[in-house]
Amino acid sequence: MKLLIAYVSKTGSSEFCAKLIAKELEQKAEIDVIDLEKKTPKLEGYDAVVVGGPVRFGAFPKVLRKFIKNHFSELSAIPCAVYFCCGLSRISDEYSETLIPRKFEPSLGVHYFGGELKPQNAKGFDKMLIRHLRSSVKYHDFEDNEASDVSLPELIPENAHLLAEDIKRITAK
Ligand SMILES: Cc1cc2nc3c(=O)[nH]c(=O)nc-3n(C[C@H](O)[C@H](O)[C@H](O)COP(=O)(O)O)c2cc1C
Repeated sequence: MKLLIAYVSKTGSSEFCAKLIAKELEQKAEIDVIDLEKKTPKLEGYDAVVVGGPVRFGAFPKVLRKFIKNHFSELSAIPCAVYFCCGLSRISDEYSETLIPRKFEPSLGVHYFGGELKPQNAKGFDKMLIRHLRSSVKYHDFEDNEASDVSLPELIPENAHLLAEDIKRITAK
């Protein structure tokens, strides 16, 4: 079985998840992990595809949106999963519904892998935005819980593991 994991990652979270899935499946499949900002892979020859990236300004980055749009019918014809990382965990359900075109229903689903808001991983405008998002998360947490302890987002490796298990089931067929 040949698996493609195609991702975009601006500050490392989605890249970490791509590599996590690849690590879990390395004994089961031949895997290419490709950063879409460096290379646009052709899909011929792959038995399954995982596509993922961060939410930025409520959407996937342009290169990822374009990749999904351009390969829409091929991705619909083979086992395919989409994952995303985001900083605002409280609206992750909303993102699950809105990140990909409605007519695209990846057979292995859309998966939320948590996210991070770490200014130290970013530069310039991104660093500023992350600081802003951190304040917004802390503010909401404070409003919701009337408590001062904050819950900044974290990656959820367990969700990546569950997707890897789903893909393992395909390779076993
Ligand atoms: C410029 C910018 C815009 C962002 N916009 C959103 C957003 O609209 N919603 C959200 O939940 N998180 C947002 N985030 C947070 C990222 O989704 C989060 O940090 C994610 O873990 C980044 O993944 P990556 O490291 O793979 O790029 C934004 C981060 C940056 C830097």
